[in-house]
Amino acid sequence: MQRAARSRARRSVAVGTLLTATIAQASLPPRPLTRAQADIRSAALLALGKRLFAETALSASGRMSCASCHDPRYAFTPSNARPVQLGGIDGRQWGTRAVPTLMYLQAAFPFTEHYRGTEEDGALDGIDQGPAGGLTWDGRADRGRDQAAIPLLSPQEMANASPDNVAARALRAGYGPRFGAIFGNNVAARAADVFAGVTAALEAYEQDAPTFFPYSSKFDAYLDGRAVLSPQETRGLAAFDNPARGNCAVCHHDTLLPNGGHPDFTDFGMVAVGVPRNPEIPANRDTQYFDLGLCGPDRTDLRGHHEYCGMFKAPTLRNVAVKKSYFHNGMVHDLRAAVAFYAERDLAPERWYPRAPNGSVAMYNDLPPGLRGNVNKEPPFDRNPGEAPALSARDIDDIVAFLRTLTDGYRPVQQQLKEGQGSALDPLGP
Ligand code: HEC
Ligand code: HEC
Repeated sequence: MQRAARSRARRSVAVGTLLTATIAQASLPPRPLTRAQADIRSAALLALGKRLFAETALSASGRMSCASCHDPRYAFTPSNARPVQLGGIDGRQWGTRAVPTLMYLQAAFPFTEHYRGTEEDGALDGIDQGPAGGLTWDGRADRGRDQAAIPLLSPQEMANASPDNVAARALRAGYGPRFGAIFGNNVAARAADVFAGVTAALEAYEQDAPTFFPYSSKFDAYLDGRAVLSPQETRGLAAFDNPARGNCAVCHHDTLLPNGGHPDFTDFGMVAVGVPRNPEIPANRDTQYFDLGLCGPDRTDLRGHHEYCGMFKAPTLRNVAVKKSYFHNGMVHDLRAAVAFYAERDLAPERWYPRAPNGSVAMYNDLPPGLRGNVNKEPPFDRNPGEAPALSARDIDDIVAFLRTLTDGYRPVQQQLKEGQGSALDPLGP
């Protein structure tokens, strides 16, 4: 499957549109709003979403909110280094996947099996690049509101028995008047409307640009000519881009968009990179269980598509240095190791995969034997044992240094001096 460089224009849904859609979905009579009224309501919906995001009363345990797993202090990823998180009614149920960041998802497009580029991203070459898009590691939810229903109802996460259950908890926690102010006073009368309101408010919050896509990293300052990359960061960027070395930018886009927008470091494409099975995940004790991404078991509509087994969505690499677990199964806890995987997977597989009973290395062991041919073999995964790796140890260090420039909240040196904090010797500040 060929992957032409793709780039997505920044596409954020206007909250006003969301609100209208929600009111329609909640089967309330749409009320004509003036622009000013619409703005006030949009702000109220966003503020409601922000509160609900941190609201533990929406969980069956009474202790878990969205923020428990998506901690705003860690780029909306977990504050702990567990590969997967614990949740559920007793807070002791293990999940099966690592928690992705919620940042830079605003340009995610609905899932498609045949991504061909769009006019707006200037990639209209018509080449079928395969499955791409959607939310979650397997793209099974197209909109934020559909996605939000998953953790609210999952027995391993917030563990509500039904949407009605969520609505009842929201009303019990005193949200009735807020819903009334936004959606109309009769909204509280129908649980389905309250549930639709909860998920729409969460979706609206996830579209808040300053919180979720601030583009405030050192690399953004560099793209705007306001910062200079160090020699090591510059080498890292070159190795990241070079098709014969990292080739990372093919999937993790890093160039300015045709409209001048900054890149999101993902093309939302689905690829099987062959991450090793993670024995720390209890579900994996069952040797017959495999999390195959696109072809199930969490996603059910593509079950028969064996060619998709093992594929997961390429995540953004923005704020990747803030994360404590990497890849869909949280197998890796160190950024350098995550980058080294790309160089070592096929050349030093014994560092990554366990030995099979016959002593051979069980390559790609998180796929059943018949499906291991699905793993990606394009650069940097195109080397055979005995050949030089696509990335040297120094390239790996350099790429890690470059990836550290993708952390939001960079303050240029001049600004730090003006604020009387930090020093020119400490450009990243405290
Ligand atoms: C117990 C931990 C946990 C909680 C609580 C939780 N999430 Fe998540 N979240 C995850 C995991 C794990 C995934 C990946 C799921 C998958 O791939 O199937 C995820 C994925 C997502 C995604 C998709 C990200 C992407 O890259 O496509 C969004 C959006 C999201 N969560 C929002 C929320 C919201 C909103 C809430 C609260 C209603 C919430 N989450 C509560 C663990 C959690
Ligand atoms: C062919 C597309 C592709 C290429 C090329 C590629 N990646 Fe990835 N990357 C992915 C996918 C897909 C995942 C998620 C795989 C999974 O978890 O199963 C990923 C995950 C990652 C992660 C883990 C991020 C997280 O939040 O868990 C890092 C770090 C990363 N890639 C860095 C790189 C670097 C550095 C390069 C170049 C050496 C590179 N990638 C090349 C597709 C790609």
